[in-house]
Amino acid sequence: MPKLLNLIKNPGVQIGMLVVFLVVVSAGIWGLYQTQVPPPQPIQFPHKIHVGLEIPCLYCHPGALRQASAGLPTEQKCWACHGQLKKYFQPPLPVAQWPPELQKLATYVQTNKPIDWVPVYQVPDFVHFNHRPHIAAGLNCENCHGDMSKKTVATIEQTVNMGWCINCHKAKTETDPVKRAKLLDCGTCHY
Ligand code: HEC
Ligand code: HEC
Ligand code: HEC
Ligand code: HEC
Ligand code: HEC
Repeated sequence: MPKLLNLIKNPGVQIGMLVVFLVVVSAGIWGLYQTQVPPPQPIQFPHKIHVGLEIPCLYCHPGALRQASAGLPTEQKCWACHGQLKKYFQPPLPVAQWPPELQKLATYVQTNKPIDWVPVYQVPDFVHFNHRPHIAAGLNCENCHGDMSKKTVATIEQTVNMGWCINCHKAKTETDPVKRAKLLDCGTCHY
């Protein structure tokens, strides 16, 4: 113990410790920053406008009801509306005069190239997440993804880690020990 105290009194060691401390803190802050910043998307898709038009989430993410993954829309789904909006077609407005993000959409449609949306929410491969039981249990999209009616592209609202899953599974099964045992069982999420 005294040896360690003497060592800590050594100015060189103190500076070393300070440097390590600063590196750890800034790495932590950078990590946090990274999780809050949405990844760049091929098109700045405005959720705000579309949710405001009362287009249901499930119109663009239909898998959330019945499948594991919610799915992301193809340009054909976008074009079902955007290929006939009066604002751009009656009378026809040259694509060059459309808003930039819609020009990009038109290019994807013309070239028939899929839009490579960048995933925002993701669990690692060794975890099985399925939307279906969650929606069936009455949860809303907002419970896990926040209020999309205020966003353009999706941002991450939740650090998707095991603690987050487990905490909610505990909270939802306070009065049901059998269900709790099932929802906390490692094999439910890892198999
Ligand atoms: C159900 C119809 C519908 C679907 C589906 C749809 N949109 Fe829209 N979108 C609209 C309407 C209506 C507007 C508002 C009209 C406008 O200002 O251009 C709009 C606005 C936009 C804008 C903003 C344009 C501006 O003024 O800056 C973008 C960008 C956009 N949509 C992209 C997309 C993309 C990409 C998809 C597919 C992932 C899509 N939309 C799917 C109806 C739709
Ligand atoms: C219990 C929490 C929870 C609820 C409720 C939930 N999600 Fe998710 N969502 C997730 C998680 C976790 C992922 C990451 C899944 C993965 O990596 O496989 C995800 C992924 C997604 C994705 C990414 C693409 C994909 O195919 O999975 C979309 C889109 C999505 N959710 C939309 C929705 C919509 C729309 C609703 C409401 C109908 C909804 N989610 C409800 C937790 C939730
Ligand atoms: C007109 C189509 C459309 C509608 C309606 C729509 N979305 Fe999306 N959503 C998209 C597109 C396109 C993306 C990919 C770009 C992005 O990540 O923002 C996306 C991405 C997402 C993501 C992130 C997916 C990922 O990669 O992890 C979530 C979560 C999500 N949407 C939830 C919702 C919810 C909740 C609603 C309803 C309140 C909704 N969306 C309505 C088109 C739509
Ligand atoms: C906001 C609350 C909430 C969050 C967050 C949440 N869950 Fe759930 N989960 C539930 C509820 C509620 C059920 C359905 C329980 C029932 O059967 O009534 C459920 C069911 C499940 C099931 C199905 C169990 C079965 O019946 O076979 C799996 C698997 C699962 N969750 C995995 C996850 C994973 C993985 C995460 C994190 C990435 C997660 N959940 C996050 C609330 C949540
Ligand atoms: C409700 C779903 C759920 C249950 C139940 C669950 N896990 Fe996880 N687990 C996750 C998710 C999501 C991740 C990935 C995110 C993370 O690393 O926190 C994960 C990650 C892990 C990891 C990797 C940790 C890391 O830091 O990379 C291990 C090991 C693990 N789980 C073991 C277990 C064990 C052991 C149990 C049973 C006591 C268990 N899990 C129960 C959802 C679950």
